[in-house]
Amino acid sequence: MKQPVDLLIKNAGQLLTMAGHSGRPKLGDELNDLGLVTGGAVAALEGKIVKVGKTGEVESSVELLPHARVVDAWGKVVMPCFVDPHTHVVFAGSREAEFELRLKGATYLEIHQAGGGILSSVRATLRATFGELAETARRRLDRLLQQGVGTVEIKSGYALTVEGEIRMLEVVKHLAKNHPLDLVPTFLGAHSFPAEYKERRDEFVDLVCREMIPRVAEAGLAEFCDVFCDQGVFSVEQAEAILETGKKHGLLPVIHADEIAPMGAAELAARVGAVSASHLLKVSNLGMEMMAGKGVIAVLLPGTAFFLMEPFAPARKMIEAGVAVALSTDRNPGSSPTESMQLIITLACLQMKMTPAEALAAATINAAHALRRAHLVGSLEEGKQADILVMEAPDYRYIPYHFGVNLVESVYKRGRKVV
Ligand code: NIG
Ligand code: FE
Repeated sequence: MKQPVDLLIKNAGQLLTMAGHSGRPKLGDELNDLGLVTGGAVAALEGKIVKVGKTGEVESSVELLPHARVVDAWGKVVMPCFVDPHTHVVFAGSREAEFELRLKGATYLEIHQAGGGILSSVRATLRATFGELAETARRRLDRLLQQGVGTVEIKSGYALTVEGEIRMLEVVKHLAKNHPLDLVPTFLGAHSFPAEYKERRDEFVDLVCREMIPRVAEAGLAEFCDVFCDQGVFSVEQAEAILETGKKHGLLPVIHADEIAPMGAAELAARVGAVSASHLLKVSNLGMEMMAGKGVIAVLLPGTAFFLMEPFAPARKMIEAGVAVALSTDRNPGSSPTESMQLIITLACLQMKMTPAEALAAATINAAHALRRAHLVGSLEEGKQADILVMEAPDYRYIPYHFGVNLVESVYKRGRKVV
């Protein structure tokens, strides 16, 4: 019996399936195995992949339904949509004035401590209406989609009040219903200390633990709980209290770790059993070892190191230490105002010395693992969502090579052409 299909993408110069490794992220040299099929095809029915392989094999085992769409991808790369596992796309205002200050020598931390940085986005976000927040975030999601991203994690964290954080997550919920992208909500009430809690930080931690987390969890508004654990923000002890409280309420722990200073935040990520730890520019050797041991995924954000003019995360050392690495845009108004996952991949290659294959695997299947979505997205395998990218590239290495432009020719989201 031939399988009926309503989408067939065939003759791909290179089809990258990213398949492999039974339910766990790619580690070490596995990252260089993209499951590449030359002359490959992928077929889908009602948004689910039913067959992947050589074009001849796929064509002979499927039957095109009368309304089926057939796409010839000759000379192109066909691959799974990117997964972006770390963004802050809901916010108001912008911070180009701080960009200029930083160019004149001010540091991100100095601006933050003077009440700018995250707190200036907080003020703008608290002033904005629900509609304004939803509309500006929608435009950012549109750009992510046009850049080939199919699944996006979104954090709260620009309100820092109980009602304001809930409102941000309600914006995410509203967008999830009204946008083709799949969205994954994360509670980040501990993104900074509000000005009025500057001198009584533990009281804010209490507010996060006693009011925000229970309310967010009860309303089902988030899957993950995050904390900015770094110099000048939340201490390891405070972060631990917040992540443990999140766990008690069913929120999976993730963490902004060791971005500005080596805090022992990667070690904390391992201790609390975090799904992922992000940034890691200043991660210690022990932190890396502990992350590898506990299977904490490193979400690397080279756009942020680039934009803050900081040394990049030691990706090679992490890969060699057996840490699973993923990549993300970190789209936010201060440290990484970009929606270009393709630029992130180029930076990963040039500045963190990842191979093009490693970077592509990190931005797809490993990023899907970082969101606990690898059973649905991140690779082209039978039964998964037909989230498929057709790239104007003759070879996968061309993707980081032809940099700074959008090479996406088309995007299929659950089998439907959306770009
Ligand atoms: O992931 N490091 C903390 N949070 C964001 C930046 C937020 C901001 O500057 O507005 C990040 O880089
Ligand atoms: Fe972030």
